[in-house]
Amino acid sequence: MQVGFIGLGRMGAGMAANLLRAGYQVTVYNRSPEKTHALAQQGASAAARVADACRGDVVITMLADDAAVENVVFGDDGVLANLRRGAVHVSMSTIGVALSERLAAAHASAAQRFVAAPVFGRPEAAATAQLFIVAAGAPGAVADCQPLFDALGQRTVTVAERPAAANLIKLSGNFLIAAVIEALGEAMALIAKFGIDRHQYLDLLTSTLFTAPVYKSYGRLIAEQKFTPAGFAAPLGHKDVRLTLAAAEDLRVPMPLASLLRDRFLALLAQGGETLDWSAIARLPAQDAGEVR
Ligand SMILES: NC(=O)c1ccc[n+]([C@@H]2O[C@H](COP(=O)([O-])OP(=O)(O)OC[C@H]3O[C@@H](n4cnc5c(N)ncnc54)[C@H](OP(=O)(O)O)[C@@H]3O)[C@@H](O)[C@H]2O)c1
Repeated sequence: MQVGFIGLGRMGAGMAANLLRAGYQVTVYNRSPEKTHALAQQGASAAARVADACRGDVVITMLADDAAVENVVFGDDGVLANLRRGAVHVSMSTIGVALSERLAAAHASAAQRFVAAPVFGRPEAAATAQLFIVAAGAPGAVADCQPLFDALGQRTVTVAERPAAANLIKLSGNFLIAAVIEALGEAMALIAKFGIDRHQYLDLLTSTLFTAPVYKSYGRLIAEQKFTPAGFAAPLGHKDVRLTLAAAEDLRVPMPLASLLRDRFLALLAQGGETLDWSAIARLPAQDAGEVR
């Protein structure tokens, strides 16, 4: 199977490398071409244009946001105009529900297949093929992509035939993670101001009622106040809360907690947090308490 891979950022670089390791012929494209060099050394072909990454059976996009995906898919040199009939576009970025619906319709009109397969897991999980993949699309198309998903992740859950369902589930999951980050930030600001050690507190939580990985991994970052280097950058976290709220607005679902989180991300970005990890919103409750280290 010949695979095109578009988007070699924090997540995509490790994912493309895993496809190479699994024996696939991979053609990589990135807007900033220097990011293709390391992959070329591992055996990938480097494409100078998006179109040249769309000649195979499958093209995967792992791009920052809706604007990046629109940029790469639509237009004369884009995925839509260059993918052959019957080939599959697998969109693994976290994008909005409306764009996913638009992509599904556009690919269907071009007799191409579209699978949405957003992922849970940070760059370390991407590099070690430990992602959780949430897939949705026509059953045959998802089945054809399963060997690729097996090379990229530890588990794939197929949720629906309508691709946008996977995107909505991914967004709802990131909303939940952001809510955990905010809640941990508030709780740790409270106990730290009293003089309780954050790590001791976290150990207590994560060895009793709060044993889930999300409390352990984000709890550690927050206890250490370690927000650089960004594994998942704050502007992308802001993007996901905005996309959650956009879907909620379309469906007429009030989400007051998501609205609060949107303002938290805005405050973080307004205070120069562009390059920090998204978990840095947990710094804001400590600042509000006059407790910033
Ligand atoms: N990081 C995480 O922990 C994580 C976890 C799960 C899901 N995700 C999702 O995975 C996707 C990628 O995340 P990431 O952390 O890998 O992001 P990233 O490191 O910022 O990489 C973004 C990629 O998108 C490209 N790009 C951005 N704007 C573009 C445009 N207008 N046209 C063409 N290419 C463009 C970048 O190209 P350049 O190199 O030229 O800038 C880069 O290849 C996002 O949707 C994110 O929400 C991330």
